[in-house]
Formats: sequence, C-alpha cells, structure tokens
Amino acid sequence: MKYTLAFDVYGTLINTSGIFYSLEQMIGDKAKIFMDTWRSKQLEYSFRRGLMKKYIDFSVCTKDALEFCCTMFNINLNKRQKEALMEEYSVLPTFRDVDSGLSNLKEAGHLLYAFSNGSTKALVKLLTNAQIIDKFDGIVSVENVVTFKPSPLVYKHFNKETNSKKSNSWLISSNPFDVIGAASYGMYTAWVQRSKDAIFDPWGIDPTIIINQLTDLFLKLDTME
Ligand code: 2OP
Repeated sequence: MKYTLAFDVYGTLINTSGIFYSLEQMIGDKAKIFMDTWRSKQLEYSFRRGLMKKYIDFSVCTKDALEFCCTMFNINLNKRQKEALMEEYSVLPTFRDVDSGLSNLKEAGHLLYAFSNGSTKALVKLLTNAQIIDKFDGIVSVENVVTFKPSPLVYKHFNKETNSKKSNSWLISSNPFDVIGAASYGMYTAWVQRSKDAIFDPWGIDPTIIINQLTDLFLKLDTME
C-alpha cells in the first residue's frame, strides 16, 4: 500500500543538538542544560500559544525561549551572539539516517511531506540547506491553521493539504507529544526513538510502530496490510 507520510522536522529530520557546539564555544559547560532548556521552553511556548489562541511564527517561540534561558542561566549573550544562534537554528544538520531513509520511502512510491510547527519560509531554508528538500512532494506548515501541534486541527490540515485520509497517512516523529497528538486524531504513527533514554509519555495512547531510525520505516511499512 502507498501511504502519505508526514515527517516532523525538528528533532526527527533535523538534529537540534547541532547548536551545541556553538553554544559550548559561547557559554562553556552550561551548554547542554541551556540547549535542553531552550528546546523544552520553545515547545512550551508553542503549547501555551496554541491554548491561548495567540499564534505567532514558531521562530518567535524559539527566540523568546532563548531570551528566557539567558535570564534563567544568568548568561549575558550580546545581540550578535543571539543573532548567530538564531541563524544557526535556521540551518541545522540532518540526522545521519535521514537521506537514505527518505530515499528508500520515495523509491517505494510513498508520498513524503515535511510537516512542522515551523513556517513554510523557515522550512524551505532549513531543508534546502540540509539538502533534503528534493526528497519531499511538499511542505505542510501549521501556519495556515494558526495553531500548533498537537492540536487535532493541524493533523486535519495535513490530511486536507495532501488530499489524504487518516486511514492512509502516517505521522513520523521523535517527539512523543506529536505522536500522541496524531494518534489521538486518528493517523497511523511511527515514533522515532532516537535515544534509548527517550521516554514515551504513559498516557496509554501508543504509536502504531516504534523505530530507532528512519531507515527502519521502509521495511515496516512494507509488512503492513
Ligand atoms: C516540529 O517540527 C516542533 O518538532 C516540532 O513541528
């Protein structure tokens, strides 16, 4: 069966830890806790804005979260350093398994879409720089429904934009909040467990399949009815 595949971007295709080295240069041994807090605060801001119906470009959530972390860790990054970090966030690298994982699925005849909280403009820049934009049949951003994952509106928007149905579409993500959101909406889901320490939330809403890298997905889909 040929499916329509929605690939989450940050953390699934794109390695947000790519920012670590620049951060370490700037702030030394606080880089890891800073980076992890930055990511979780960025997502928290998107969740809060979704609930508040105060949508804003996801890059503003990223920038506001950076400001929060500078205050939290009492680190006085200057304007140039903050701009450099935000610029780096817009050109992060892919994980090693992504290029071949996407190629296998494309060759098998599935339809591939990047699907993200990021704006279309940000995604085009990110995926072009990562040299994987040509793997996709299209890009779907949440911007047109002015809310964020895991609202069911964004998954419904994905199905509408790609002329797919719950029954023939998959959400592929390393982010459990995204997987649970899509599963709760009714799509098939693949959780990309990129680290053995990654924990899936104990909500009793489980992914259809669990994979450790994108290259596992091709074979798993092949065995589906
Ligand atoms: C996304 O790319 C934030 O990882 C999430 O939509």
